[in-house]
This record gives sequence, C-alpha cells and structure tokens, in this order.
Amino acid sequence: MSTADTRWWRHAAIYQIYPRSFADSDGDGVGDLAGVRGHLGYLRDLGIDAIWFSPWYPSPMADAGYDVADYRDIDPVFGTLDEAQALIDEAHAAGIRIIIDIVPNHASVEHAWFRAAVSTGEFRDRFHFRSGRGEAPPNDWESIFGGPAWTRVADGEWYLHLFDAGQPDLNWDHPAVREEFDDILRFWFDRGVDGIRIDSAAMVAKDPALPDFDPAAPPEPHPWNDRDELHELYRRWRRIADAYPQPKALIGEVWLADPLRFARYLRHDELHAAFNFDFLGCPWEAKALRRCIDETMAAHATVGAPATWVLSNHDVTRHVTRYGRAETGFEHALRQTRHRMPADLALGTRRARAAALLTFALPGSVYVYQGEELGLPEAEDLPPEARQDPIHKRTGGIDPGRDGCRVPLPWSGTEPPYGFGGPGWLPQPADWAARTVAAQTGDPSSMLHLYRGTLALRRSLPGLGDGPMEWLDSPDGVLAFRRDGGFVCVVNLSPEPVGLPAGVPLAASGPLADGMLPPDTAVWLTQE
Ligand code: GLC
Repeated sequence: MSTADTRWWRHAAIYQIYPRSFADSDGDGVGDLAGVRGHLGYLRDLGIDAIWFSPWYPSPMADAGYDVADYRDIDPVFGTLDEAQALIDEAHAAGIRIIIDIVPNHASVEHAWFRAAVSTGEFRDRFHFRSGRGEAPPNDWESIFGGPAWTRVADGEWYLHLFDAGQPDLNWDHPAVREEFDDILRFWFDRGVDGIRIDSAAMVAKDPALPDFDPAAPPEPHPWNDRDELHELYRRWRRIADAYPQPKALIGEVWLADPLRFARYLRHDELHAAFNFDFLGCPWEAKALRRCIDETMAAHATVGAPATWVLSNHDVTRHVTRYGRAETGFEHALRQTRHRMPADLALGTRRARAAALLTFALPGSVYVYQGEELGLPEAEDLPPEARQDPIHKRTGGIDPGRDGCRVPLPWSGTEPPYGFGGPGWLPQPADWAARTVAAQTGDPSSMLHLYRGTLALRRSLPGLGDGPMEWLDSPDGVLAFRRDGGFVCVVNLSPEPVGLPAGVPLAASGPLADGMLPPDTAVWLTQE
C-alpha cells in the first residue's frame, strides 16, 4: 500500500467481504472480524488492494446488517470496535486498504432515534412519518423488497421504508441527519478507514411532497431516485474526505439506467467512483458487452472518472450460474423466473474464467466478490425455511431472494462447514469439497490459481488498471483490445475457435489448442 498512491481507487482491485459468510472464528456459524484477521494472508496472496466490508455495525439483521442500529460500533456477532481497529491496522500492514459500507438512506427500527420516534414522538421529523389517507398509506410507493413502502405505528401514523419495514428511511432535509453523517464519516476516517461504499446512494433524497408514483413520468429523476439535492450532499462528503492527508475514497452504489445521469455523480468534486451495474447485468454476448464497455468508457470520460468493473456481489445471482444458463444477463426483476433455470456449471465456469480476464484487463478498478475467486456457483437449493433474505419473506417466497450468493465460504475439508467455523447460518451445498481454498491451492487449473495469477499480472503490467484502451479489429463474437505497453486481451464469445493475434501469451482462461482461441476462452498477450 503506497502512500504515494493518492488516487488508488482509479485502478484498485477491491475484494468485497460479506462478514457473515467469510470466516467464523468462534464457531457460532456466523463469520466475524477475527475470522477476517485470520485470513489477511490469504487476501494479501490473492493480490487485492482493498477490502470493502458489507455492514459490520450493531443491527437486528432485518436485512443482514443493512439495517443499522448504531453507526459507530460493531455488532457483537462480528466482534468489537477494538477488533475493528486491529483489523484496519493489520490490513494496512499487509498493504490492504479498508472500505466500509455507509448506509445513509435508512437506519434500523432499533436505532435510538427511531425508537424515540415511536415511543415518544421525538425525532419523527428525522424520518418520513405521515398520516395515512384514511386507512390507506400516505402514498402508493412500493418497497423495493415487495409490499407497501409504508408501515403503521401504534398511534396510527405511517413511516416510509423503501426496503424492509425494519429499515426506516431517514429524512435528509433535516440538518441533524446531515450533521450526524458528517460525524460518522469522520469517526471512521479518523480510525484509518480508507474509503466508504455508499449504500443506495442515488435514493437518499426524496421529493418532499412524497407524491404518488407517476408511471408515465420518465424513469429518472424520480420522486425517490436521482434527485438534484444529492449532488450537494456528495460535494459535502467529498470536502470531508479531502480534508484528510491520506486519500479517502467515496464510492457510490448508484443504480441508474442512464449512463450520463450516472456520470453526474462522478464530477470532480463528488464521488470518486460508482458501481457499474450495467456491466454486471450484461449478458455474455460480444455485442452487448462491447456496447456496455463503450458506453461506460464514454460516460466516464465526460467527467474524467475511473470506470468500475463488477461481475458479482451480495445482491445478485453468482455469475458462474448466470453464465451457464440460456439467459446470461441479470436483472433483479427476473430473479424469480430465472431461479433454477437449468445451468451448465462447466460452461458457466469457463465463461467466468474468461470474464475474469476481460474484467481485469479493462481500464479502471475491479471488484471481486468473496467466493468468486473459488468459482462458487449460486446455491439454488436452499430450503425455503433456511432462507433469510427479507425479499424472500416480503414476496411470500415468489422471489427466492439473495441468500444463494451469501452462503458461507468453503475453506477446507470435504464436508460442510468446510473449515468455515461452526455450521453456517445458511447451509452449504454438499458438493463443494472441490471448491475449497485448500483443494484449489496449488492446482494450476483452479479458479483460485487463475485469480491469483491474473491479479498479480494486473498489478505488475504498467498498461493495466487506469489508462486508455483501444479496440482491435476482430471477427464477430470476439472482443479484442489493446492497452499500453503492448498488452492485448482477446475474448472469444463465438461458438467457433478463432486464430490468435501475434504475441506471447501471458495468461489464458483455458487451454489454447494449436494457436487457436477456443469458444468462451480469453487470453492475454504481450506484443513487441
Ligand atoms: C443495497 C445493498 C443491499 C441492501 C439494500 C438496502 O442495495 O447492496 O444488500 O439490501 O441496499 O440497504
């Protein structure tokens, strides 16, 4: 971790830890900070630059920690504030930066403000409390997790929650809310945290009239999405971050369909980067990927911001499974129809290997979601009673929810819990023995070996990470591009083998036969 690297987010490889499922040190079946501390060597050897932690705060876990009861502490199931400090310091010593999740759109029903709001009425104006329309909620908004976006308290008023009823939305028009979060940012930055991932970053501001949803209005801006007030908020946070001598990154979870509206959040004095969901959801098709890459690069160029490249996270179907289906794209709305659609995991794995080479070669920063380096598929066979995601509950089980990508990691051994710790909070599949870290270590054909090798190359090759790219002529169904320093990446998404350009192979996602690149295979080459 070089202190001279003042713009590290422009090129970093960032590993997402979902703390409940990474490693459990005390045998209670839930991952914890001591489990992470015990595996920092693994992360260093994987070759990542930073860790992004999904929320680690005290929480009743209505949404697995995205319902925060206290933004300045650690949930006892994960550890203590002192352990978080030790983890930050040890990660730094291992050359790894720390990004934490900040959840500004909503708190928890257990947050002190909300408890007071319900019991005494104090602080109601820090949330969105309203009278109903007769017996009906104040407006027609629906929760993103299903069902109405309003819940009624005992005295008859309703509060707004865009997600679960356990996640009351905060009112960002209230100065106390803004001041509170300024202080929370400083609290963690003072402890050495190197950046924040801002949850639901485009939804935080609401139209104060809270009007009914107008289906005829353009999708963005929206009464609760992409409102102009947000830009002032992120400029303010940027000033807080920039006041530190060490570089602190602001990274937003910005779900917007329009790439130019998305880029507005990345102006020079706002967020440094935002997640590229267009790429994540893109089908495994050359034309679609090329369009997505071109639009991403063009939109980011308008503001001089670095692109991000993401294949999976804790909210989406794991890409080994997606890429093994007839329909390879991802959309939340389609999860319920695609769930259990037949998936050829050998094909999905081949494509996931090629996708890693594509992703790591593109200009900007990359994200690795825990377990993707092991090639984990979605755990689709979780019994309904084991599922914990509020999406599953709020849709009456119609949508399976996101538990299938959150199953505890397999570290070693031949049966569950595969060295995770105690029997996991979600059951692990019986057939993951070959997918453990121990089973893959030292196996040159493993996903782990591919990730370690290509992340190391990505670090060492000066043309990778931030910088320009240039498309090369290629046959239909093939993506080929050049980066500085004579680096070339070729990905064959066509059904036929294609010839390789001149150059010395540096890495390949699968065997190259007779100078040809087989289908669903990618190669990195260096040319003189
Ligand atoms: C984000 C998180 C997701 C969470 C939601 C509400 O989309 O990634 O896991 O459920 O926000 O906080």
